[in-house]
Amino acid sequence: MRKIAIIGGTGIDNPDTLKGFEKKIIETPFGKALCNIGTMSGNQVVFVSRHGVDHSVPPHKVNYRANIWAMKSLGTEEIFATTAVGSLNPEMKAGHFVVCDNVLDFTKSRINTFYDSPERGVAHCDFTYPYCPTLREKVIKCLEKTDITFHKHGVYVCTEGPRFESAAEIKMFAMLGGDLVGMTNMPESILAREAEMCYTNCSIVTNMAAGISPTPLSHKEVCDAMALSIKNMEKLILSFIAY
Ligand code: HPA
Repeated sequence: MRKIAIIGGTGIDNPDTLKGFEKKIIETPFGKALCNIGTMSGNQVVFVSRHGVDHSVPPHKVNYRANIWAMKSLGTEEIFATTAVGSLNPEMKAGHFVVCDNVLDFTKSRINTFYDSPERGVAHCDFTYPYCPTLREKVIKCLEKTDITFHKHGVYVCTEGPRFESAAEIKMFAMLGGDLVGMTNMPESILAREAEMCYTNCSIVTNMAAGISPTPLSHKEVCDAMALSIKNMEKLILSFIAY
């Protein structure tokens, strides 16, 4: 039996497939985490909605430590996280899926470690490749069986938010090698690494980034674009769970 956690990002907060899952509030040293726990394809599955069921928690306020700690306490070994992203890369267009392989962290005000207290001591975690190569391969194999347009590589730039970026910031991120911009993969991915769980991400491009898009960005544009990809993402999640 695999022990899998799914972190649902924008638009993936309440999948139909969770019917029959048990809602449980898990207490952690960092606060509470709401987990939906069930079994699918013979595997334990924990589903966590990153922004809450009603999308009430903005990216800089997500309790990443509580969510990751709760998953660990439930025995999770594999985490599959979805994220909505803007694209800096002309090849990566709205509706495309990207299995990211690296990160540029531009967050500013988030607690990004479990190791910040005398009881837990000091740790310096390897983060050369932030996403688990084995899990990335599983996601790629699942995507290959679909007709979804996807990319096997992508550098995810994580911004602090909640505002979208300026045109100059997007130009800078592109010069640094970024492909996608989003607000949630950090510190989620490093906390999973610290907690010794495999973590991978599949990003859904919802828009071209600020200054590349001809129109100002809005949260509605992101949600409307996500709505078009939800069925595809649900299919991918089911296929990943059954892999
Ligand atoms: N910027 C940051 N986060 C995002 C974007 C964006 O353009 N689109 C979806 N999430």
